[in-house]
Amino acid sequence: MHYEVVLPAAGSGKRMGAGKNKLFLLLANKPILIHTLEVFQRDGNCTGIWLAVKPEERDYIQQLLEEYRITKVKGLPSGGNERQHSVHSCIKEMNQVDIVLVHDAARPFITTPVIEKLVLTAKEEGAAIAGVRAKDTMKKVADGIIVETVDRDNLWSIQTPQAFQFDLIKEAEDIAEKVGFLGTDEAMLVERLGHQVHIVESTYENVKITTKEDILFGEAIIQHRTI
Ligand code: C5P
Repeated sequence: MHYEVVLPAAGSGKRMGAGKNKLFLLLANKPILIHTLEVFQRDGNCTGIWLAVKPEERDYIQQLLEEYRITKVKGLPSGGNERQHSVHSCIKEMNQVDIVLVHDAARPFITTPVIEKLVLTAKEEGAAIAGVRAKDTMKKVADGIIVETVDRDNLWSIQTPQAFQFDLIKEAEDIAEKVGFLGTDEAMLVERLGHQVHIVESTYENVKITTKEDILFGEAIIQHRTI
């Protein structure tokens, strides 16, 4: 089942504190951005990649695409101040497709079995997102005091990819922009429309490279995969 993917890559990576876009940092000698792009370049079901970029980084990213022979990129629109705006800038430029995946460029360890399940579920149900079951005991806290120990059985940590039928995510993004609603993920925009969103169990390896220790986790994951 074919799909196109939107990769927001226009963040500033403040929490990484690298002084540059964290997606340019190397993992096993290759930029994080390229690790993520290669997953979709290799996947025969992916028919197009849309990359939201900072205007001042567009030339450098284009160089990287050539160097690593990433040929599926259809557009590199300018991202916005918020991740949601970066995603929307891609959706606005896309032509009608069946299924769209939105995936953080900072999650290089996504695997094709999870992508496949997401695409199939979104095709049937409209919206499907990747997540993993919460591992830790979860408590609600206010002013440093435990308010409640939450039943972990119903709690999931949400990741990307998030997969949608094109018309659904386009409508959800357009409405959110019109009313000035900012969600923490794409699913939230779709939930607002009263549409059900399905969960697809993903892997704990699908980490978002956010802080310095995530680079260490990332190196360990790559090493483990190549043993
Ligand atoms: O900062 P964080 O890691 O949560 O961002 C997730 C993804 O969204 C990253 O790939 C980042 O480059 C992207 N992003 C974006 N535009 C923004 C903020 C983040 O494309 N304004």
